[in-house]
Amino acid sequence: MTENALRILLRLTVLAFFFLAGFYYKITKLLDHRHLSPRFQNAEERLLRNPSVSLPAATTRHPLAPPYPFPYKFLMNLQEKCQNQDPFLVLLVTSVSHDITSRMAVRETWGNKSNYGDVNVVTVFLVGLSSVATDKVQQLLEEENSIYGDIVQQDFMDTYYNLTLKTLMGIEWVAKYCPTASYVMKTDSDMFLNVEYLVYNVLVPGNPVHTNLYTGKISVNVTPIRNESQKWYVPKEIYPSDFYPPYCLGSGYVFSASLAQKVYNVAQVIEMMPMEDVFIGMCMKMLNISITKNTRSIFNGGWKKYNRCLFTKLVTVHSYGGEDLKEVWMDFWSKRKSECPK
Ligand SMILES: *[C@@H]1O[C@H](CO)[C@@H](O)[C@H](O)[C@H]1NC(C)=O
Ligand SMILES: *[C@@H]1O[C@H](CO)[C@@H](O)[C@H](O)[C@H]1NC(C)=O
Ligand SMILES: *[C@@H]1O[C@H](CO)[C@@H](O)[C@H](O)[C@H]1NC(C)=O
Ligand SMILES: *[C@@H]1O[C@H](CO)[C@@H](O)[C@H](O)[C@H]1NC(C)=O
Repeated sequence: MTENALRILLRLTVLAFFFLAGFYYKITKLLDHRHLSPRFQNAEERLLRNPSVSLPAATTRHPLAPPYPFPYKFLMNLQEKCQNQDPFLVLLVTSVSHDITSRMAVRETWGNKSNYGDVNVVTVFLVGLSSVATDKVQQLLEEENSIYGDIVQQDFMDTYYNLTLKTLMGIEWVAKYCPTASYVMKTDSDMFLNVEYLVYNVLVPGNPVHTNLYTGKISVNVTPIRNESQKWYVPKEIYPSDFYPPYCLGSGYVFSASLAQKVYNVAQVIEMMPMEDVFIGMCMKMLNISITKNTRSIFNGGWKKYNRCLFTKLVTVHSYGGEDLKEVWMDFWSKRKSECPK
């Protein structure tokens, strides 16, 4: 062989190598994303590189409507959490990604599963991607999760108007990774929660599991707020009707775990709504699930001054977080079985 032919052969080999490597890379990427359409695939990559970039639906949706449906990716999915166990109750606790204080308070109080003995209660915190100091917050979250193993996260921006995405993530998580649970409660990290009362007086272990339960603090005949300067402002472009369907307040509502997959499916096709509790009410309406009434006002959306005897007969009280929660809990838990005036 001449020197020239040798050089050409060498060049061809190098070219072929790069061609095959590129081909292999493309194929593995395709396999990786085989469940996504190319449109979503690109958007997802853009979102991961620069989470503030606008999503494909941005041109058609109102800026206050969370982008959905969209294949948000689980960054933390606790896929082992429910393996080999069938939780009686899953507590889905919405929490802001950087707010470790509230999560710690919940872990040390009502979120501690060892409080409940034989009744299997699983607590999971729902977070999105921090919109400030994203990398730093993400690193801390991962450390926190490696210690406590109780954080579920997808790659949407963790903002107030995206709360519906957070709830839907929790519901998707139950459907995918915890489908053998009996009941689910969605609540917030700034709540006082009397899990024992809920378990023994409302759900009752040992009774047949309800398959169509949806209960909590019921709101009926609520009209959308059309005043832009208010927190729960919802423009007509997002929700045109004058009344919301009946729904349970987001501070704490309970539903059958078997509804998780159904709600998730319906959520893919109905109009998105920034108020997560109203949105779940809309999904339940589509599914023809009516709200189960409770005999007394055991679910509280508002604040109540701590009173042990009162709190032993309630499920939720709003606005107890961090140190307040720990202080109240210490008294409540140690004395909850003491006498109370009739
Ligand atoms: C949960 O309760 C157990 C038993 O009381 C205790 O050992 C554990 O430290 C508690 N966990 C947290 C995070 O406080
Ligand atoms: C909601 O999250 C999406 C996806 O991360 C983001 O593009 C959007 O700006 C967020 N919406 C609001 C109102 O924060
Ligand atoms: C809208 O809300 C703001 C703040 O609560 C209030 O000052 C204002 O009067 C309201 N506007 C209307 C038209 O009700
Ligand atoms: C709900 O009820 C309506 C009217 O009875 C019916 O048309 C619809 O198919 C039902 N939807 C579901 C999901 O069962």
